[in-house]
Amino acid sequence: MSWQDEFRQFFPVTRDKAYANIAYTSPLSPKVADAVAAFFDGITHARSDKPQWLRDADALRVRLARLIGGDPRRLAFTKNTTEGLNTVAQGLAWQDGDNLIVDDQEHPTNALPWLNLRRRGVQVRVAQANAHRYTVDDLWRHVDARTRLIAVSWVQYGTGLRTDIAELGRRCAALGIWLVVDGIQGAGLLRAQVDEWHVDAFACGAHKGLLGPLGVGFLHVSPKLLDALEPLYIGPSGVTTLDKSGLQWQVGVSDADDARRLESGNLNYPGIAGWAGALDLIEGAQPERIEPWVLELSQALGDGLRGLGAQVVSPAGAAMRSTTTALRVADPTAALAHLNQAGVVASVVEYGYVRVSVGAYNNHADVERILRAVRALGV
Ligand SMILES: Cc1ncc(COP(=O)(O)O)c(C=O)c1O
Repeated sequence: MSWQDEFRQFFPVTRDKAYANIAYTSPLSPKVADAVAAFFDGITHARSDKPQWLRDADALRVRLARLIGGDPRRLAFTKNTTEGLNTVAQGLAWQDGDNLIVDDQEHPTNALPWLNLRRRGVQVRVAQANAHRYTVDDLWRHVDARTRLIAVSWVQYGTGLRTDIAELGRRCAALGIWLVVDGIQGAGLLRAQVDEWHVDAFACGAHKGLLGPLGVGFLHVSPKLLDALEPLYIGPSGVTTLDKSGLQWQVGVSDADDARRLESGNLNYPGIAGWAGALDLIEGAQPERIEPWVLELSQALGDGLRGLGAQVVSPAGAAMRSTTTALRVADPTAALAHLNQAGVVASVVEYGYVRVSVGAYNNHADVERILRAVRALGV
């Protein structure tokens, strides 16, 4: 059996549906659900073991850091992407008149934490896309001597546009501008090299391409950014301690170069257990095989849709394309209902487009099914 067929079997939804909605959320594999259930079963039967849970969290750090080309010592668990981005926004020391740059294609998750900084005198500059496309130059046009940070999605949620993070990273590193990347739409599907790309912060949630449960995520930071960040919250963590031996209680940070200082309190251990189950699947399939496969499927889908005369909003070129394809249709709600009827799970994004997005559990038969359903829609 091919690795693709084997991988597909881990996702029961594929037996009766063409699931084309990973940009919204991953379908859950029983491997993930079972791992979460096993965690709760342990607590149910008095097998609570926090030192083991912390070791499990650290083991997952290693696997996630490997997957994105980072360092486990610079990876902090969060509850979601939003928390990771706010940890950066609120943890930096801003000066009145500083500015930062975002683009107008961002999910609210990667806009609100930055807009919140207006209260602290930070100017937020919004780079405008043209027909949902922008290049690094379009972002760079807004840079001046007071630019401190650029925040961008690796892959845009609405159209799947892929940002050239390597080029942006080169430019930001040269000027000492922090590069913050919302990685959730790419991680687990496409290959990231966050350290090589000079990404200062890479924030993700588990529940899309990383195939994990909702409610857990991570923030990976560069050594320089880790050094610059003040934690949002202070509480016990793997490296933050309280010495109560004298009357002058002492807060200790055993290692300032360890991103666990950005964590506080108990982690989402059940989420981490489930996510480890998801990593088993990704590693079993092999990330270097996943990327070409999902890009092959998404290209077949894009080409097929264009062949049908559909209005594809997403870019066609290999450099800007990802696993998401957005279509302009007359009545998106009716179109979605029609696709659902045909066993195709997709979503509608706020621009009023139907969005289809593929994962490694999809195959060419799914692509054909989606194309048949769109043809019947009469686009
Ligand atoms: C680009 C992007 N960022 C972030 C999120 C989710 O953010 P969070 O993990 O904070 O829920 C989504 C989708 O839900 C998204 O598409």
